[in-house]
Amino acid sequence: MSLVNERARIVSNDQIGPRLHVLTVESPQIASAIMPGQFVHMKVPGRNENILRRPFSVYARDSEAGMLEVLYQEVGELTSYMPTLSDGIIETIGPIGNTWSGPARVHDGACGNALLVGGGVGAAPLFLLAESLKQLGCPFDVVLGAQTRDALVTLRRYSDLIGCEPCCATDDGSYGRSGFCMSLVEERLDQGGIAQPGPYDYVAVCGPEPLMKIVAGMAHAAQVACEVSMEKRMACGIGACLSCVVDTKSGKKRSCVDGPIFDAGEVMW
Ligand SMILES: Cc1cc2nc3c(=O)[nH]c(=O)nc-3n(C[C@H](O)[C@H](O)[C@H](O)COP(=O)(O)OP(=O)(O)OC[C@H]3O[C@@H](n4cnc5c(N)ncnc54)[C@H](O)[C@@H]3O)c2cc1C
Ligand code: FES
Repeated sequence: MSLVNERARIVSNDQIGPRLHVLTVESPQIASAIMPGQFVHMKVPGRNENILRRPFSVYARDSEAGMLEVLYQEVGELTSYMPTLSDGIIETIGPIGNTWSGPARVHDGACGNALLVGGGVGAAPLFLLAESLKQLGCPFDVVLGAQTRDALVTLRRYSDLIGCEPCCATDDGSYGRSGFCMSLVEERLDQGGIAQPGPYDYVAVCGPEPLMKIVAGMAHAAQVACEVSMEKRMACGIGACLSCVVDTKSGKKRSCVDGPIFDAGEVMW
């Protein structure tokens, strides 16, 4: 489906953790078309002095009800203003970007063993991928990292989907492994799958760039295909301004239209 600019109606906007919120909007065209890994570009209403849209991954969608959920973190001017929104319309462009190739590989008949690694709000764009893998009957494990127990806001949803708890790490040790989640990824790559014993065929990772870089290196060392979601700062979101460039082995690429999903081995970290 080509891009649409949809007037998405705010349905709810709830705080679910420290500086973490889930925004639900009614956006039937985008909800029915969005694929795992793609994102939307939202014009936050009431901030006319800040005309730039903001990119957000889609955390969940209900295509029958026409609903989209975005998990967002307050980090700066617009995301700190967004919790004040309780109703109204958000002009939303989407679906934008490419998709994780995990499900595509499955469609090709290669149902590999997958490991999904989400750091912080980076867990959000992996949830639609997890749902796809589950629907297709493909084995996968999940590693989640967050600063604290309270910030592990996607834990319940992943647990419900996979029927057991993902492997978790918190920076302060308040839940799961103490420290960054890379040690859990190293362990999994070493020991193999939980859902299905044996080596992994595919790793998908989203989170802070240092996390993605380290996991990419681990996957490379283990000779496992790895994809990353490069969440660069974006202005236009349609490939025109070059604000979101990623250096790759085949030259400069725009994260918005050539990504956001990249082969980790292609990225010049
Ligand atoms: C494809 C894509 C998907 C994204 N999905 C999500 C999501 O699901 N949930 C979510 O909370 N955020 C997501 N982001 C990041 C989100 O777009 C930014 O946090 C938001 O634009 C910040 O706007 P602001 O006005 O609050 O911050 P600003 O005032 O513009 O900036 C505040 C601080 O945030 C930093 N920042 C801004 N944009 C980014 C970025 N893209 N990556 C890293 N740091 C940034 C700035 O460098 C600055 O330090 C995504 C970004 C991309 C490109
Ligand atoms: S945001 Fe303008 S080219 Fe990507």
